[in-house]
Amino acid sequence: MGEVFAGLLGAGDIVLLEGEMGAGKTVFASGVGAGLGVTSPVTSPTFVLVRSQRGRSLAMHHADLWRLDSDAEIADLAIAEAAEEDGVALVEWGEKAEKLVGEEYIKVVISIADQLHRTIRFEAQGPSWTTRTAALARVLRGGEAE
Ligand SMILES: Nc1ncnc2c1ncn2[C@@H]1O[C@H](COP(=O)(O)OP(=O)(O)O)[C@@H](O)[C@H]1O
Ligand SMILES: [Mg+2]
Repeated sequence: MGEVFAGLLGAGDIVLLEGEMGAGKTVFASGVGAGLGVTSPVTSPTFVLVRSQRGRSLAMHHADLWRLDSDAEIADLAIAEAAEEDGVALVEWGEKAEKLVGEEYIKVVISIADQLHRTIRFEAQGPSWTTRTAALARVLRGGEAE
């Protein structure tokens, strides 16, 4: 799902990944990396806080806010600014950054249904994402992104 979702992404996009530990945020990010053409392995950035990896045409700035709690520390990561420059930002524990990244982002909320199944909800925020919800529904049903 991350891989097809990546087809909708453009420069400056911010993706907030939410869900408890083990929900599948990193696995989703690794699918997005595959879709963007990132060839190095996408692993959890828990200890480095943000890892930037180059894809075919967009860079992926992958953050993990698990260990951060203060807005100042999170703002210091300049997640939105990095995305703005040359790529997209994917933020695990994205709810901690929601008030700090501006008006335009998409939330991907992953919940554990059972050991083998996940429920994934997409919440578009701001005009740049609300105009893409039809395309999002199409790619999630197995169609092609435009
Ligand atoms: N979509 C999924 N369906 C089933 N199992 C999954 C899914 N995504 C992740 N998992 C399982 O959950 C484990 C933890 O996923 P991970 O992406 O590291 O979680 P998080 O980053 O949310 O803590 C993975 O190793 C995998 O076994
Ligand atoms: Mg993770």
